[in-house]
Amino acid sequence: MILKTERLILSPWQPEDWIAFRPIAQDPEVMRYITGGKPWTDDEIRNFIDRQVALFAGRGFCRWKVTGQTGEEVMGFCGVGFWRGAIGEPEIGWWLARRFWGLGYASEGARAAMEDVFRRTELPRLISVAMPGNRASIHIMEKLGMHFEAEFEGENTRLVRYALTRDEYLSRAQALEAR
Ligand SMILES: CC(C)(COP(=O)(O)OP(=O)(O)OC[C@H]1O[C@@H](n2cnc3c(N)ncnc32)[C@H](O)[C@@H]1OP(=O)(O)O)[C@@H](O)C(=O)NCCC(=O)NCCS
Repeated sequence: MILKTERLILSPWQPEDWIAFRPIAQDPEVMRYITGGKPWTDDEIRNFIDRQVALFAGRGFCRWKVTGQTGEEVMGFCGVGFWRGAIGEPEIGWWLARRFWGLGYASEGARAAMEDVFRRTELPRLISVAMPGNRASIHIMEKLGMHFEAEFEGENTRLVRYALTRDEYLSRAQALEAR
């Protein structure tokens, strides 16, 4: 199972992909609004990839591996996992290697991942969580039609939560199709 967009392929991870993902999760600039810039350890990276492998096996979606159309280079991830801290809700998120920023890739991947979970699964609602300073990420949430829900304290930092229900998504999609 893969999702294709105009420029990207979103596909499930293999356990050994943690090596290709490592430079992304160990780039302090990528991690700026995740951990305050602290790179993930190899164990954290392996655990993350293993969680995505298990999530895909169990639920049929995950935070997809993002590659270009040739499928060679891992550009990052984009897709739905479960927000660990607060309430274990399905959360859509995205991280890309720095050289791929500013080109619309995260928005393109996120649109496809959101459409897939809302059309192919029964998930009633998606949230997305970011540090308030992460303007690029919050802008993507807004472009996806998500609305601000709360600012809260999580993982020792202030976070904002955006949300969108499946009903909201489908009725908006229907309205667009009817135009
Ligand atoms: C967040 C991230 C995935 C964005 O990737 P990207 O491919 O550059 O995103 P896109 O180009 O699709 O969209 C970003 C949007 O935010 C806008 N944006 C970027 N920086 C911004 C800023 N400082 N303030 C306001 N808007 C900003 C862009 O103009 C773009 O909007 P547009 O399409 O209307 O022009 C990337 O920066 C990243 O990997 N960051 C590190 C990991 C991370 O923080 N992930 C999110 C955790 S919540």
